Formats: sequence, C-alpha cells, structure tokens
Amino acid sequence: MSVLDRQNHWQNVYETKGERDVSWFQEIPQISLDLVHATGVRADASIVDVGGGASHLVDALVTEGFCSITVLDLSEKALAKSRNRLGLRGRKVTWIVADAMAWRPDRHYDLWHDRAAFHFLIDASERAAYAASVRHVVRPGGHVIIGTFAPDGPERCSGLPVARHDAGSIGELLGSSFALIETRREDHRTPAVASSDSNSAGSNGRRAKM
Ligand SMILES: C[S@@+](CC[C@H](N)C(=O)[O-])C[C@H]1O[C@@H](n2cnc3c(N)ncnc32)[C@H](O)[C@@H]1O
Repeated sequence: MSVLDRQNHWQNVYETKGERDVSWFQEIPQISLDLVHATGVRADASIVDVGGGASHLVDALVTEGFCSITVLDLSEKALAKSRNRLGLRGRKVTWIVADAMAWRPDRHYDLWHDRAAFHFLIDASERAAYAASVRHVVRPGGHVIIGTFAPDGPERCSGLPVARHDAGSIGELLGSSFALIETRREDHRTPAVASSDSNSAGSNGRRAKM
C-alpha cells in the first residue's frame, strides 16, 4: 500500500466516523498511561505519540502536567479532532502530519509511544523503515512503548490487514540496542459491542529501553 493510499484511507476514516465510532476508541487509555508512568519520565520529558490519531492519551498527559508532547499521524483530520477537543489546553502540544516510517526530526525524544499504528505495517521493509525511525528519534536511555494486536488477536483493523506481534517479534525488529523492560496484555472491548467477547482484541503493550 502506498503512503498516499494509506493516508487517504485514514483521512476518510476520521472524516466519516465520530471519535467514539471507531473500534479502537478508549475514553481513558489506561495501559498506555501506566506504561508511560512506569518509564519514570519527568513532566518535561519529550514524548511523541506516533500514529496518535484522535486518541485521548494527549488529553491525559496534558492534564498530568506533561509539557513537551508531540502527536504525529498520517491524518491531518485525526489531529484536528484532538486539537479542537483540547482547545487552549493543547496550545503547547506539537502536531505533526508525517509517515512514521519516514519521520526524521532534527532532535531526539525521550519517549516513543505507539498504540495500534505499527501493526498496519505488514511488509518487512515497512517494519524495517519504522525501526530505523525509532532508532533515529529515541535518545540513548530513552523509552519505546509499542502496542499491537497479539498473535491471537484479529487479523484486520479498520478494514486493513495487520501484522500481529509479541514482545519477541518487536524486540527482534528494534535490535540489540533496546532491552525489553515489560510486556502487558490487554483485552480490548470495542466500544460499540462492549458486551461481546468475539469483538475483543488481544493486544500487547511492550516497553523497551534503549
Ligand atoms: C487504529 S488507529 C489508533 C489511533 C490511536 N493510536 C489510538 O490509540 O486511538 C491507527 C492510527 O495510526 C495512524 N497511522 C497509520 N499508519 C501510519 C503511519 N505510517 N505513520 C503515521 N501514522 C500512521 C492512522 O492515521 C491512525 O490514526
């Protein structure tokens, strides 16, 4: 899938669906927050939420006093939703429209967070490009949190095929300069069908230190 096709897909999703109508919606992204806290990063740490979409993670981090937050996504419409929701509270947040595989900022970040963007990279070359971005962006001593569908999770998300992962496959990709600190499992209930087990999505939260 070309980057343009990918971007069009996501722009269309965020244009046609309300933020609560998507299967990955979370009012409070608790596992992400727990993993951020577990890194021990300070309130002035530079944090980037990669493929952040319209996630409420940025809201929670702003509320907690984190003051150097970047949200990056392929979809400008997704970022606009969060920007509008936050209003003045989001005035210090940096919003970047970019492809995570090609992003090469001229500064380092303390923490890279990605919930449910990496698993859309189904070709090995795409995953290698993503890993190159992580290595470029995260400072030595920094942290990476990557949440994906688990090996027994769904095979598709948002109508697109996904690659499912565990700590081993992500660790292999990131390479030996990263050490695995922690891995967690989450059984995510999609909001529209919260009572149905068949729509729960096993996902892995993984935290690594560089
Ligand atoms: C399933 S949504 C998850 C959004 C958000 N992380 C959350 O938990 O609500 C996947 C997001 O990844 C973004 N995305 C997909 N591929 C990307 C890429 N190559 N670079 C940047 N963002 C990407 C999409 O635009 C979308 O917002």
